[in-house]
Amino acid sequence: MDKPAPVAHDVHDLIRARWSPRAFADRPIDDAALRSLLESARWAASCFNEQPWRFIVARRDTDDFNRLLECLVPGNQVWANRASVLMVSVARMTFTRNDKPNRHAFHDVGLAVSQLSLQATSLGIVLHQMAGFDRDKVIATYKVPEGFEPVTAIALGYPGDPEALADDLRERELAPRSRMPQKEFVFTKSWGHSLD
Ligand SMILES: Cc1cc2nc3c(=O)[nH]c(=O)nc-3n(C[C@H](O)[C@H](O)[C@H](O)COP(=O)(O)O)c2cc1C
Repeated sequence: MDKPAPVAHDVHDLIRARWSPRAFADRPIDDAALRSLLESARWAASCFNEQPWRFIVARRDTDDFNRLLECLVPGNQVWANRASVLMVSVARMTFTRNDKPNRHAFHDVGLAVSQLSLQATSLGIVLHQMAGFDRDKVIATYKVPEGFEPVTAIALGYPGDPEALADDLRERELAPRSRMPQKEFVFTKSWGHSLD
């Protein structure tokens, strides 16, 4: 299902088209597409080119998929179980160059996922990021070392039929997309003074 953003100003078609559905088709993401997504993340900008992103990846129909699925909160498991691939993005929280805290680590992981999401859109793949997962369980399950922090879980797949979703989820799937207007987040001269 397409749900293009009702933009107020012109943007690239990929940006308009990207959204976060919960309905996934029963179709695998092949290796070439998966590598392409991860490659697009690889080429994101990052502070000092530290590349603090790491990705734990689990393909559907593997035991590992279920292990990762079980790290999600139940409200996300109910729809993410139909994804073709699950991931967790992880941030290295210190610089390799001097072990000091990297306060832009989450930012850079977000940039990498943003690139991944637009590459996915270009391939007809949809993804849905999630804060709703058990961070401690991810760390324990995947032996994430100290100094690394799970950031988001991500469900990926090809778009599916919203009719396959439970009523409450279908309603959210079909709801219009909305954003605050630019005047609420673009300031000039002083905080809260919008750019005319
Ligand atoms: C960091 C992050 C955490 C999110 N967590 C969840 C989540 O746990 N469950 C969920 O259903 N959606 C989650 N979402 C999806 C957002 O609700 C969605 O991106 C937002 O409503 C905007 O919709 P759009 O992506 O379709 O434009 C999350 C998105 C982000 C970026």
